[in-house]
Amino acid sequence: MSRPPAVRVTSPAKLNLGLEILRRRADGYHDLVTLFQAISLSDRLDLALEPQPGIRLQVIPSTLDLGPAEENLAVRAAGLLMPDLSRPPGLRIRLRKQIPAGAGLGGGSSNAAATLCGLAFLLERSLSAEQLENLGSRLGSDVAFFVRGGCQIGVGRGELLRPVVPAPDFWAVVVLPDIHLSTREVYGRLKLALTDPGPLASLAPGSSTREWSGGHAPDWPLGRPLMVPPDLWGRLHNDLEPVVLGLRPDLREILAAMERFGARSARVTGSGSALFTVVEHREQGRRLLGRLTREGIRARLVRAEPGGCRIEPDVAR
Ligand code: C5P
Repeated sequence: MSRPPAVRVTSPAKLNLGLEILRRRADGYHDLVTLFQAISLSDRLDLALEPQPGIRLQVIPSTLDLGPAEENLAVRAAGLLMPDLSRPPGLRIRLRKQIPAGAGLGGGSSNAAATLCGLAFLLERSLSAEQLENLGSRLGSDVAFFVRGGCQIGVGRGELLRPVVPAPDFWAVVVLPDIHLSTREVYGRLKLALTDPGPLASLAPGSSTREWSGGHAPDWPLGRPLMVPPDLWGRLHNDLEPVVLGLRPDLREILAAMERFGARSARVTGSGSALFTVVEHREQGRRLLGRLTREGIRARLVRAEPGGCRIEPDVAR
């Protein structure tokens, strides 16, 4: 008997190395400019086509509560490529989670991108990265990023992307507090101040003055590599950070502990609650990780990933 076609996909987390909010849009979203970086902390998805119709999701560990399966972004992503769920083949998704939810690490979005990439492969649908990104953007603002990953600047909702060259290679320590924050709530509490464009907005001329939405970014050749000035890295910040720290002042104490233990500059990623600091080398990261762990703070040492969701087609399960 032949084994059902199956594929394994690695689904990385991301950091927002910087995030600048430009304006609130008529559709309720915010136009922003962000610097995304994929990291080695990742989930793993095993996708298998089965004769029985429908989509079945198994989450590992099974004690993890990710909410109703039909709302899961991986399941919704599969639905986009399998519109008629009453007919075979069906799909089994085994999702091994390492990326905490509600942490600003993009885990759900990455799982959606991984499902799109893996399922397109299984169904032998030849979809370009651009087509996958457009499909992904229907599910969430960050999904498109995970199709290509690496280091990219995102504008609009974060779905209009250009890769950064040269791609950085670094280690970082990511703190994973046991705190679940709602992205919608964090954005909802944001008080927009009239400030000069930040270092990221200055890289996207026109973005500070005109709305870039619906795939429309006049001075932004999507997909074309963007060279960033070397002094950018030290000038990044996250406009959502004051809101996140206002909601959870206990995160301020962890940021302070990270800096006390030698982190040069520690920040919130996305809408939180995860915190991160870039370290000079792996050994420094190990030392910082050791100190945080001894204080009872859950953290991981991660590396910048050059790619995004990655298919391992030879692994049949
Ligand atoms: O796009 P996604 O579904 O991940 O966004 C979740 C929520 O975060 C949105 O409903 C919106 O309230 C907020 N958001 C925003 N502007 C963005 C991205 C997200 O206001 N660029």
